[in-house]
Amino acid sequence: MTILRNLWNDEQGQDLIEYTLLMAFVALASAALFLGAGGSNALVVAVGCGTGQSATALAAIAERVTALDASAEMIARAAGGANVEYKVGVAEQLPFAAGEFDLVTAGSALHWFDQRRFFGECRRVLLACGVVAVYNDHFTTHMEGSPAFHRWMRVGYGNRYPPVRGLKDLDREAAAAAGFQVAQATSFNHVVRLSASELSTYLLTRSTTLAAIHTGRATVDGVAEWLGQELRELLPDGVVGAFLFKCNVWLLRRRPAVGQTQGGEDEGWDRAGGT
Ligand SMILES: C[S@@+](CC[C@H](N)C(=O)[O-])C[C@H]1O[C@@H](n2cnc3c(N)ncnc32)[C@H](O)[C@@H]1O
Repeated sequence: MTILRNLWNDEQGQDLIEYTLLMAFVALASAALFLGAGGSNALVVAVGCGTGQSATALAAIAERVTALDASAEMIARAAGGANVEYKVGVAEQLPFAAGEFDLVTAGSALHWFDQRRFFGECRRVLLACGVVAVYNDHFTTHMEGSPAFHRWMRVGYGNRYPPVRGLKDLDREAAAAAGFQVAQATSFNHVVRLSASELSTYLLTRSTTLAAIHTGRATVDGVAEWLGQELRELLPDGVVGAFLFKCNVWLLRRRPAVGQTQGGEDEGWDRAGGT
């Protein structure tokens, strides 16, 4: 939220992220439909909706999408959409009545939430047959044909902006505590082509750099200047690199009551998916 606010509002950065989220959405939408989460009559809430990329895409398969984000600034920049309603609010205290939704989604946002509280809220606002769909797109730090870039990401960039501790893709224990289990999981790789300045804008939106800025260890301008210098050799002007991203998708459902069976629980996709 506060960490993300400044940089996610950057127009160029937003375009890049939108592109990667679109890929994730394709997997999410088909999987949600496969699970029969209400299909075209589904009432959906997109939590941590940002500027509404996934919410807008979801609107095509849902009757109504409510898009919620902790940041009023993100909502102010949101894309619109006839059956999309935007709201400011937090994942840990969803401003909705019990049993209001068929599907809750969180796209590249779950790692910022208090997952115990979020999944507790999912349980409350979802119908008993409802689904939680989570997807996160990760930069693998690989550029095609450039081992030097990967080394720099691990050492040069990695030492300066180390991973933020405690951020979790999916906390299965937190989900289980609220009665959810992974019904299906998958992951897929995809390539994003970026110039040095586009890559620099993207790197400015990563949790690692945002954490440094948020804690006062760095400034936006300082990080941008450093990245510009560092990338000059790795990705000279006029060159576009092919960067590898990996997207993880999980679909969670309520654990069946004792004695009931429910196909798919942590079977099939989950083991085969390699998340
Ligand atoms: C990467 S953006 C999400 C992109 C968005 N899902 C989309 O499809 O375009 C992450 C968002 O999570 C929001 N966020 C972070 N913590 C939150 C919380 N506890 N509750 C609600 N939103 C939160 C941030 O404000 C930010 O807009």
